[in-house]
Amino acid sequence: MTKACKLAAGNWKMNGLRADLDEARALASGLGQTSCGVLLCPPATLISAMAEAVAGSRVMVGGQDCAAQVSGAHTGDISAQMLADSGARHVILGHSERRADHGESSALVAEKALAAHQAGLVAIICLGETESERDGGQTLAVVLEQLAGSLPQGATSANTVVAYEPVWAIGTGRTPTLAQIAEVHDSLRANLPDAAISLLYGGSVKPGNAADIFAIANVDGALVGGASLKASDFGAIVAALDAA
Ligand code: 13P
Repeated sequence: MTKACKLAAGNWKMNGLRADLDEARALASGLGQTSCGVLLCPPATLISAMAEAVAGSRVMVGGQDCAAQVSGAHTGDISAQMLADSGARHVILGHSERRADHGESSALVAEKALAAHQAGLVAIICLGETESERDGGQTLAVVLEQLAGSLPQGATSANTVVAYEPVWAIGTGRTPTLAQIAEVHDSLRANLPDAAISLLYGGSVKPGNAADIFAIANVDGALVGGASLKASDFGAIVAALDAA
């Protein structure tokens, strides 16, 4: 069985102006001989400039969303091909903030992922339970339903990454126990169409907890929000992944 690739991915969300590209440059110049993939997903406005800023380094650049359509009359939307044309290699899809703020269903996420694949992008498909779903004992049922609904036909380890992000752990400083993360990741691994698809954990990953999380068997990396905005923090998370 091919082993899943390690990936440290940063999601800048709606943060970042041109001046913040210095953080991407600092990350790029501070990377040692890391064996894992390193990805930053800035707002769409910075993709092109960030791709230029980190050119020649190991840092890859990605988007945070794309349209399901290829082109046309969709004011304000950005196609997967446009992201690729700007220098993106990956795109985050189905983040809980988009599922909640924009009513994105798993079916729409699967359509977007197909568009991403057709444009040559790796889709990072996010899933995770709310606090009430966890309290109600529905965590595995919820994430497996999201997995089944959000992965498009043809999803393989070459074009797809899955990120488990419990909604209640995002931006809160709270994380599941290591056993809870392991339970979800084991279950996801057993239900992937290709067992070599990388599984990331996301939700309040910091330099201080990264090594413990990366020691979990079916965790192949992290999707990091707040701590990816500073090169020193994100660089420490990359180093923890490299050492895992
Ligand atoms: P935080 O790391 O800020 O909790 O955000 C996680 C996240 O949503 C990454 O996509």
